[in-house]
Amino acid sequence: MPTIAIVGPGAIGGILAAWLGQDPHNAVTVCARTGFDHLEVETPTGTITSSPRVITSPSDATPVDWVLIATKAYDAASAAIWLPSLCRPDTRVVVLQNGVEHVERFSPYVPVASLVPAVIDCPAERTAPGRMRQRGASWIIVPSSANGRDFVSLWTKTNFDVKTDDFTTRAWGKLCINAPGAISAILMKPTGVIQIEPVPDLTRGIVRECLAVGRAEGAKLDDGIVDAVVEGARKAPPDSLNSLIADRMAGRPMEIDARNGAIVRFGRKHGIPTPLNEMAVALLTAAQDTRTY
Ligand SMILES: NC(=O)c1ccc[n+]([C@@H]2O[C@H](COP(=O)([O-])OP(=O)(O)OC[C@H]3O[C@@H](n4cnc5c(N)ncnc54)[C@H](OP(=O)(O)O)[C@@H]3O)[C@@H](O)[C@H]2O)c1
Repeated sequence: MPTIAIVGPGAIGGILAAWLGQDPHNAVTVCARTGFDHLEVETPTGTITSSPRVITSPSDATPVDWVLIATKAYDAASAAIWLPSLCRPDTRVVVLQNGVEHVERFSPYVPVASLVPAVIDCPAERTAPGRMRQRGASWIIVPSSANGRDFVSLWTKTNFDVKTDDFTTRAWGKLCINAPGAISAILMKPTGVIQIEPVPDLTRGIVRECLAVGRAEGAKLDDGIVDAVVEGARKAPPDSLNSLIADRMAGRPMEIDARNGAIVRFGRKHGIPTPLNEMAVALLTAAQDTRTY
């Protein structure tokens, strides 16, 4: 029976825990900051419920086969507090977060050979502790390694499409899609802002910077992604919100550093200028400063 701990039962962590709990062979523990009694997830095919063990203190945790980290990227240090109690030498730690620095973020806490970076696409939100909505088709990509293949085998009784692939390419591909979300968050306007000139060109510029940096990191992405991101935004519901704007509207911290910040950091490493992403980071950092004047 695989033992699985999910750290961070927000939109993503709650949905993952509820789906893994559908398989009676899995023993699922949820490591929460805010407790709840059971999980209830509205999925595209109906509501599923699950009653994992819920713990709110690392002193109640015991070692497991798999740890799935699903906090926001900026909560990595606090999520890591769970790891000494959850990890044995053979525990695999899967990091399901946005950005491209999954391994760098957790390598201070876990041997790199135990870390499995994962790109996840799951349109989701949390409506209350333990209550989530999975709004559409969802997939996870992990590296083509023995750990990646073992992880894929956990998902047979879920509606997630979980596969191994070239992680670098998939993570930078997702960052190309996410990076222009900064425009919405700066303007506090939903995705329909793509209809306003010159937002499409600004979007292309942000994606081109990400593409150049991602290619320098080894991502195999073609130029078509630049227009595909603009077309994707045009086809999305105009009132839809990406997670940066949703977090800013709710007064929560934003994952600016893990997204546009990563493009700037890796750009510097390769000597690739990223002025548009740099400005996005600067404006959103200033926007979330809470000082009053
Ligand atoms: N939502 C999406 O549609 C989506 C899609 C793809 C990828 N992602 C990525 O997935 C990651 C998670 O996003 P999310 O939307 O699920 O975030 P979220 O809804 O904000 O959930 C994060 C959860 O982590 C919990 N948490 C924070 N620190 C913790 C700690 N030290 N111990 C235990 N729990 C802790 C939070 O606790 P509280 O309950 O106390 O707040 C919250 O339940 C992000 O990197 C995001 O970019 C999200």
